[in-house]
Amino acid sequence: MPRALVDSFGRQVVDLRVSVTDRCNFRCRYCMPAEDMRWLPREEILTFEEVERVVSIFVHHFGLQSVRLTGGEPTARAHLPELVRRLAALPVELSMTTNGASLARLARPLAQAGLHRVTVSLDSLQPERFAAMTGRDVLGQVLQGIEAALEAGLHPVKVNTVTMRGFNDDEVVDLARWGRELGVEVRFIEFMPLDGAGEWSAERVVPAEEVLSRLQEVFALEPMGARGSQPAERFRYSDGRGTVGVIASVTRPFCGDCDRARLTAEGALRSCLFSVTERDLRPLLRGGATDEEVAAAIEAEVAAKWAGHAIGRVTFVRPTRSMSQIGG
Ligand code: 5AD
Ligand code: SF4
Repeated sequence: MPRALVDSFGRQVVDLRVSVTDRCNFRCRYCMPAEDMRWLPREEILTFEEVERVVSIFVHHFGLQSVRLTGGEPTARAHLPELVRRLAALPVELSMTTNGASLARLARPLAQAGLHRVTVSLDSLQPERFAAMTGRDVLGQVLQGIEAALEAGLHPVKVNTVTMRGFNDDEVVDLARWGRELGVEVRFIEFMPLDGAGEWSAERVVPAEEVLSRLQEVFALEPMGARGSQPAERFRYSDGRGTVGVIASVTRPFCGDCDRARLTAEGALRSCLFSVTERDLRPLLRGGATDEEVAAAIEAEVAAKWAGHAIGRVTFVRPTRSMSQIGG
């Protein structure tokens, strides 16, 4: 019988984000450092067997319900469908967050391997702006990737948009309308101080309230009810066509409701995006530890979760890892 994996808020952790690589072919301004990244050497990255073992310990010891593959860019990991096939054999919902650039090629093989759904990051529908945001001039390819995900049945396909003042805050209505017409839920995320390059400042954050009032000038929206453990506040268009969401990670932190843990590509367990501590599971995995010993280490890290981030407060400590290294 699984036992509950409970954090210091008393909340049960049921969702695990697994970073499968720290590599990425994009350089999003809100994520990556400006200078070249130094990628982890291959031997430091968990093997598929090691990832499968950790996830199965989460499932069998703690009743894990969902796994999301992240990166860097998860599709940068060679043979990703093989990992998906292994994880799909476990009784969990399996999703992935991707920049979408490889989905035109990979959506079908990933769906066939057992992936359930995808979330694609997309910050602009204007080619030049997209290139300036991501460092790659591939908007068309990403849009094709989103279509491919819809065709492959990776439903519901969602889109994450990081709103940054002065970069894309004037595109909120365009993006929402595009999503509604295509049948994908666009979720506007407040820019968090997790970029390696130090672009973040409080003025760059577009509060979710502001995004909503811009949307409400054009569309009639109805709240879809309590957020629960999900970070997104969701709305349905009153004409019955489509949904949209906001993630107020900075102005309305949801730490107390969060049911997630994170595993980095090299096998460190983090109980929060903003954790300044983490527990390295790799020495256990490679040193002959039993499943029960790994489970005990997981429990200890989750139980030590701190009292939530404090962006905007003097006590906020910026984590030394950027988003690309944690996996979002
Ligand atoms: N603030 C908010 N969201 C971010 N993401 C990456 N960096 C940031 C940031 N600094 C988002 C990406 C992607 C997911 C992994 O996290 O848009 O969708
Ligand atoms: Fe790559 Fe994702 Fe970071 Fe963009 S947000 S640079 S796609 S890891």
